[in-house]
Amino acid sequence: MAEQLVSMERDVPFTQADFNKMRGILYDYAGITLADHKRDMAYNRLVRRLRELKLSSFSEYFSYLDQHGDEFSHFINSMTTNLTAFFREKHHFDFLAQELLPELERSGQRKLKAWSAGCSIGEETYSIAIAMRGMSKVDTSGWDIELHATDIDSKVLETAQRGVYSLERVKVLPDSIKRRWFLKGTGQQSGQAMVRPELKKIVKFHQLNLMQGWNIPDSLDFVFCRNVMIYFDNETQARLLDRMADVVKPGGYLFVGHSESPFRLTKRFRLIGKTIYQRVS
Ligand SMILES: C[S@@+](CC[C@H](N)C(=O)[O-])C[C@H]1O[C@@H](n2cnc3c(N)ncnc32)[C@H](O)[C@@H]1O
Repeated sequence: MAEQLVSMERDVPFTQADFNKMRGILYDYAGITLADHKRDMAYNRLVRRLRELKLSSFSEYFSYLDQHGDEFSHFINSMTTNLTAFFREKHHFDFLAQELLPELERSGQRKLKAWSAGCSIGEETYSIAIAMRGMSKVDTSGWDIELHATDIDSKVLETAQRGVYSLERVKVLPDSIKRRWFLKGTGQQSGQAMVRPELKKIVKFHQLNLMQGWNIPDSLDFVFCRNVMIYFDNETQARLLDRMADVVKPGGYLFVGHSESPFRLTKRFRLIGKTIYQRVS
């Protein structure tokens, strides 16, 4: 009954065949699986794009997608889930500041290479940068820090690169962090906070589809790939974990989201803390 009511409210018809076609394209390109119960969500996300293009059916949209190569990024951007926040799953950032940096310092290392994979609008990435530059007893001001941050979605990457956030999103941060790492907007920028240039300059944002080739250096000290694998099936996750192990240095770390469990799918990382893994082979 609920399904019928939802269907009747739709101003553009959306058949099971439309849904299957949509999720087939998404899976083949991005590895993202959409279960049956995501049908309404999928409709709501893509129907906006149909309205912008003034198209009246999904089959018209799929023909349009076939004929206009540049539509593909709009399709992908419409279909990704980009939920994120500053210092989401804070224990990861505490681990960076209190365990990982002291460990590197003890080993004499003054260089650090890391990757924030599936970075969305950049809040995860800047939280990593803050943890590495300003939350540890280790003074990293003289260190060579290189932080790569990637996402498949070109729109979220634009926001990430700009590094400008509403005060609402920044309000979760302690005042000391806000003062040290953000500039408060005035005039036309009022109500916004901008990440300070000195923090931005250690981050390299670029578009990367985890299902394709990676232009990422190897021997990384750590990778954050959090709340991304949940959208992939087990086989895709296992393949991804194997490739992650190839770019993380032996003994390096992988941080995953709270509902992701790589230990079921790989022997190349071992669980060493709450959703924190270390490369063993
Ligand atoms: C829910 S967000 C997670 C953001 C951040 N990692 C966090 O935990 O707060 C998932 C991100 O993964 C990205 N993503 C999904 N599939 C991807 C793929 N095949 N390649 C690269 N990024 C992908 C999405 O665009 C989205 O921004």
